[in-house]
Amino acid sequence: MIRNIVKSQQFNREFLAELFSIAREMEVIIKSGGSNMLAHKVMATLFYEPSTRTRLSFESAMRRLGGEVISTENAREFSSASKGETLEDTIRIVEGYADVIVIRHYESGAAERAAEIATIPIINAGDGAGQHPTQSLLDLYTIQKELGRIDGLSIAMVGDLANGRTARSLSYLLGKYDKITLYFVAPEVVKMKQDIKTYLKRHKVQFYEESNLREVSAKVDVIYQTRIQKERFGERIEDYEKARGKYIVNKKLLEVMKRKSIILHPLPRVDEIAPEVDADPRAAYFRQAQNGLYIRMALLKMLLLG
Ligand code: CP
Repeated sequence: MIRNIVKSQQFNREFLAELFSIAREMEVIIKSGGSNMLAHKVMATLFYEPSTRTRLSFESAMRRLGGEVISTENAREFSSASKGETLEDTIRIVEGYADVIVIRHYESGAAERAAEIATIPIINAGDGAGQHPTQSLLDLYTIQKELGRIDGLSIAMVGDLANGRTARSLSYLLGKYDKITLYFVAPEVVKMKQDIKTYLKRHKVQFYEESNLREVSAKVDVIYQTRIQKERFGERIEDYEKARGKYIVNKKLLEVMKRKSIILHPLPRVDEIAPEVDADPRAAYFRQAQNGLYIRMALLKMLLLG
């Protein structure tokens, strides 16, 4: 029984199989007009960083299951954090108004801090450059749905792997599967961090650091492209300029990719996937975002109804 969703290491394969099974049920529920299973339950969303997909899909998930939503968008500016209230105090207050709190914060580890003191479930919706566990759950669900399996796949993670919390969370999850091969393709200034590489070694996941995206694309089942996150560079504008535009998925890359492979991206994108790719059946990133609704409905059901 899982109480909080704070990091991808916490899940086991049994939990993942159950979650995916409930997510498939949620797809059916949506088609039949929704459900009232979470009637009288309240979800609070506390977002200290911008979001389109995560916040709106969580809010939609709650409403489609008959629950209510209270929300602070731009909490850094419009919540009492702007008056100096600590995260811990905010959580103590909000837990009196809600049954579950979904939090996105600019500091790595913030959701775990919240979970340590909260008396209701906490869901990490992204904590700085730390993790984004619910994104990795929907990423994995998408891979399973699109390719029919996870064990034995080769996956390229591309772009800002140092700051990309989605790539970090997905790496942790993939460490739970068999015969996975990972290729990290990142500009020099944003390479995958050592903590993830140590974890993968410990879990006997084969990984390679590569620089030629074209060569890698020809042999993988999944390209997981990510945005170079300008907002995480601070004053290091030169580093940002070195990293941006180095690895782009475009029509020329599609030519070398396997026929039965997919392109994922947590989104938002800037220029790292050319719009000309969108019409290709292997471009799965919009379907991936849609899957976020089903996975988040399933998570809310599991956390609130057991
Ligand atoms: N993928 C993702 O987290 O998107 P948002 O920032 O729009 O929530």
